[in-house]
Order: sequence, then structure tokens, then C-alpha cells
Amino acid sequence: MDKQKKEGRYSRIHKQLSELVLKSNSPTARMATIIAVLHHKMDTFFWTGFYRIENGLMTVFMYQGPVACQILEKDKGVCWAAFNQKETVLVEDVHQFPGHIACDSRSNSEIVVPLKNENGEIIGVLDIDSNQKAAFDEVDAKWLEKILELIYI
Ligand code: SME
Repeated sequence: MDKQKKEGRYSRIHKQLSELVLKSNSPTARMATIIAVLHHKMDTFFWTGFYRIENGLMTVFMYQGPVACQILEKDKGVCWAAFNQKETVLVEDVHQFPGHIACDSRSNSEIVVPLKNENGEIIGVLDIDSNQKAAFDEVDAKWLEKILELIYI
């Protein structure tokens, strides 16, 4: 998808989500709605979901797409990289990323955005995989970071 088309699509999704999140104060309801909307409106998203730190373990939370790894080995892979670096990580080709954890061999590119709670602490990540190579760029990073801010408003 070209950047202009992607900007337009995210802008509409963000508007829709900013209205939907007001229906409930529950961060869980908001997270579920966000991944449902993203997964079904962005054609290149193959797996869309959250991992959260539970008792020190990076544990899968709600998601849409094929069955995922339940727990990610500490400090390995893209999710832990984004969590540890406290910033969004874009991977054009997961097969070139050292330590990438392949939950599904059909994934080819990935974006991981840290998830902050109401106190600004990073409690997990939003992880999106695509079966296309280089599906994500700075437009995705900008909008996905903005969308995650809707969870704890
Ligand atoms: N590829 C991720 C693991 C989670 S799956 O993509 C759903 C990683 O390397 O952290």
C-alpha cells in the first residue's frame, strides 16, 4: 500500500477507534477492539495482538490470527527488543533478524510497539506480523503509537 493511501486508512481507523474507546473505560475492551479493527481493516496484517509481561514472562494476550507462541524466551526476538529498547522496532525481513522467534513460518515482516500504562510504564507490546516482506514503515509506527495512546486515556 502506498504511503498516502496508508495515511488515509490509518486516519479513518484512528477516528473510528477514538469513538469506540469512549464506550467503555476498560483497557481490556479497548485493546480487544483495537486489534479487531486493525486486523480486519489492514489487508497486510497476518497476526495482530498483544504480549504482556506477566510474572516476568512475555506472555501472549489477546490476538487475531493464527495460534501464537504462548511465552517468548526472555531477551530474544523482536518483542523483547522493542520492550527493552523502549521504542518501536520495524523489521523488514524477519528471517534476517538475529534471534527472531518464528511462531508461524508464514510471517515475513513485523512491527512491535511498546505498550504503556496510565503511569507511562511499559507493560507489554503490540505485535503485528505480515506475510509480505517490508510491509511496515514509519507511517505504521506513527499511527500505531498514536492508537495505543487511546487505551489508557
Ligand atoms: N516474532 C515475535 C514473536 C511473536 S509472534 O510474531 C506472534 C518475536 O520475535 O518476538
